[in-house]
Amino acid sequence: ISFQYVENNGQPENMMRLVALKNVFSKQLPNMPREYISRLVLDRNHRSVALAKGKCSALGGITYRPFHEQAFAEIAFCAVAANEQVKGFGTRLMNHAKEFAKQRDGIRYFLTYADNAAVGYFLKQGFTKEPKLDKEIWQGFIKEYDSVTLMECEIAPQITHTD
Ligand code: ACO
Repeated sequence: ISFQYVENNGQPENMMRLVALKNVFSKQLPNMPREYISRLVLDRNHRSVALAKGKCSALGGITYRPFHEQAFAEIAFCAVAANEQVKGFGTRLMNHAKEFAKQRDGIRYFLTYADNAAVGYFLKQGFTKEPKLDKEIWQGFIKEYDSVTLMECEIAPQITHTD
């Protein structure tokens, strides 16, 4: 098992990994339309951090869209396969996503619209329900949804989040 930064850059291995990840998201996020998940995971403006097994499969992951100029990223999807949940992978995944987003994309803040059932998980990962980031920075860049909670996490630049 490893944590891999994956983008759709035309490499067949990355493509296979992203397809595997999209299948995990489709299963774990049944309220999200499948086509929407596929489109975002394979979109070249999105980045994924995969809980990777072998060369091209995925047991979970986080897909985010970085807004480099504003130094924030919106987490679109976050999930771990059902039989791998509650083993600590969700926490390690988020820590790796913070580290990759910081180092590769220059990100200082994660924002996400959390499903109400996942709010507890995000709180444990250092997210808050009271975003500090000025609304003007992200308004118009990320979509607003109903019946979900906007949560934010500041990614401290001086801390290494992974072990
Ligand atoms: N509510 C409250 N606490 C939770 C939840 C939850 N739904 N899920 C995990 N936790 C807690 C765990 O108890 C654990 O706490 P601890 O550190 O005190 O022991 C901590 O969060 C991390 O647990 P992990 O084992 O690392 O998490 P796991 O591997 O199970 O992954 C995840 C958590 C990703 C939420 C997983 O349960 C999942 O895939 N759920 C289904 C999909 C989902 O809801 N995704 C988020 C939707 S919102 C979005 O994608 C933007």
